[in-house]
Amino acid sequence: MSLDFCKRIPKVELHAHLNGSISEETIKKLAMKKNPELYKDWRMSVDKGKVGTIDNVFQIFKLIHQISDNTEAIYTIAYDVIHEFSADNVKYLELRSTPRDAPSMGMTKISYIEAILKAIEDCHKEKLDIVVKLLLAIDRRNDLSIAKETVDLAERYSKLSGGTVVGVDLSGDPSVGDARTLVPVLRDAKCRGLKLALHLAEVPAVDETEEMLKIIPDRIGHGTCLHPDAGGSQGLVDTVLQHRIPLELCLTSNMTCETVSHVDNHHFKYWYDQGLPCAICTDDKGVFSTSLSEEYCLVAETFGLTRNDIWTLSYNSIDLIFAEEAVKQDLRSKWNSVKSYELNSE
Ligand code: IMP
Ligand code: ZN
Repeated sequence: MSLDFCKRIPKVELHAHLNGSISEETIKKLAMKKNPELYKDWRMSVDKGKVGTIDNVFQIFKLIHQISDNTEAIYTIAYDVIHEFSADNVKYLELRSTPRDAPSMGMTKISYIEAILKAIEDCHKEKLDIVVKLLLAIDRRNDLSIAKETVDLAERYSKLSGGTVVGVDLSGDPSVGDARTLVPVLRDAKCRGLKLALHLAEVPAVDETEEMLKIIPDRIGHGTCLHPDAGGSQGLVDTVLQHRIPLELCLTSNMTCETVSHVDNHHFKYWYDQGLPCAICTDDKGVFSTSLSEEYCLVAETFGLTRNDIWTLSYNSIDLIFAEEAVKQDLRSKWNSVKSYELNSE
């Protein structure tokens, strides 16, 4: 599988954390303004393939958050990240980010969200060929009141943004907290018409995952440890299959965080063979030094997928987006207009 083919084909990115997606150029630009030592620290932590365990990854987020502690930086990050995905032929992007405040820098959760929305709007005005939506993230360490505030903000900005904010994500260090405490808030978000993309079973956690699956999320992030062989249970597998809950799969992320021992053992294969809808995603393209094209290429090479399989994987991801049918139709037309050319060219 050529990387060039994976770069050329149109793609959908459904699992991209804003602050994890920052490129080295943007980190450098922002750190130089703030404190050049931060860039050096980032450079030392993020060396391709050397991030190590999941604990190290969450240390890197702490470092990045020091750089992105003001609305100007958040705008720059969102603007640059959207351009970078667009340059990789991503035609539809769902960003997700945890609203943060930094009182000493004059940043509020509202100004944080508005900075991202402004970047999305500016990219749209530039006629960049990419549709961008936003999910507001709840960190699993958050208590109920913070989670409720995030859901309120998501509902409010879903209306104010005319549908750019589409839902809520649940993420954060999987070894911290118990997501079950957040169930009432997540159920309420669903009742309010917000879409739910939940990081589930990133590490073995059968009881928690069982409870979370009762919400029937719209998509699952990772789902690494659903299967009994990976520390899950047959009950979890049956529930996911019964409700056909799509998975967002991020191979390099799982390899780097060492939640999957070897890429050959990645759970993509199991779920793909079961016919479960799966979207290939980057998770944190900056932290994991990857791109969506590279992720497609890795999946193809690891599991022997043909160009046609890769095309179909990309095309079928359109079904999984959190946008209305008209957007899906537009994307399908876009894919179909280049299909025969891309599949037949060298
Ligand atoms: P932000 O929400 O834009 O600040 O993006 C960084 C945040 O995304 C991190 O602090 C985590 O809460 C979350 N995140 C990024 N990657 C992962 C992951 O692999 N698992 C769980 N949470 C993650
Ligand atoms: Zn993630």
